[in-house]
Amino acid sequence: MNHYLITGANRGLGLEFVRQLLARGDGVTACCREPDEAGDLQRLGASAGERFATLALDVADADAVAALPGKLRAGGRVVDVVINNAGIAAGEEAFGQFEAGTMERVLRVNSIAPMLVAQAVAPLLEKDGTAPKIVCITSGLGSIANADGLTFGLSYGMSKAALNMGVKKLASEMKRRGVAIIALHPGWVQTDMGGQNATLKPEESIRGMLKVIDGLTTRDNGRFLTYAGEELPW
Ligand SMILES: NC(=O)c1ccc[n+]([C@@H]2O[C@H](COP(=O)([O-])OP(=O)(O)OC[C@H]3O[C@@H](n4cnc5c(N)ncnc54)[C@H](OP(=O)(O)O)[C@@H]3O)[C@@H](O)[C@H]2O)c1
Repeated sequence: MNHYLITGANRGLGLEFVRQLLARGDGVTACCREPDEAGDLQRLGASAGERFATLALDVADADAVAALPGKLRAGGRVVDVVINNAGIAAGEEAFGQFEAGTMERVLRVNSIAPMLVAQAVAPLLEKDGTAPKIVCITSGLGSIANADGLTFGLSYGMSKAALNMGVKKLASEMKRRGVAIIALHPGWVQTDMGGQNATLKPEESIRGMLKVIDGLTTRDNGRFLTYAGEELPW
């Protein structure tokens, strides 16, 4: 059994991560902004006993992220795998609609927060984790190589490209510490963000991502992979 810390665990892909991890016997610290309001999440964890805990965390709040290691220690929790999953999109953003405030908000959640979480929790993973890993849920829309012609989602694409760079920049330092780190694209998935026309159901995306995560070692550090384990171009 490994213990996973997941951000944005109350709905969408985060919730499905929790569902599949608990079903296979792993432990989960499910972070979300309002745990008391997260009915689906609480129902999932109800029968998991000590394998399940929730933690209130707004990833855009840097002080709250800095307090995370203290809270984990106080709860006696050993974390093996961190999944930086929380993310936001900003709609179509056609040219002429780009706004500084939107970009700043999206950057804070999609790019800055995963780096702060990695920085806060890596020492715990390094010390206590049996197979320590940091997984940053990115997007194919963060691929600069594939961006040509895609006019929508400027803030979102830029924020995920920045996240990808963060993963690449941390790769060798994390390897030295024995921690695996990758950027992982879930595919286009039917969630509030992906919409109902998306090609994948959350169950399929998460099944694939867990297979990729299970197989990770520090030799994979800095890779940009899809839920199917395929390499994406930067
Ligand atoms: N679905 C897709 O097709 C797709 C494709 C590529 C990449 N992704 C990525 O996959 C990840 C999960 O997306 P999803 O499809 O599950 O989206 P979703 O259904 O919109 O869920 C987003 C999750 O992120 C949380 N969140 C947002 N801002 C937060 C904050 N400041 N602090 C804490 N939690 C916050 C939300 O919590 P609240 O309920 O509190 O808002 C929610 O739990 C994201 O990183 C996304 O960019 C998704």
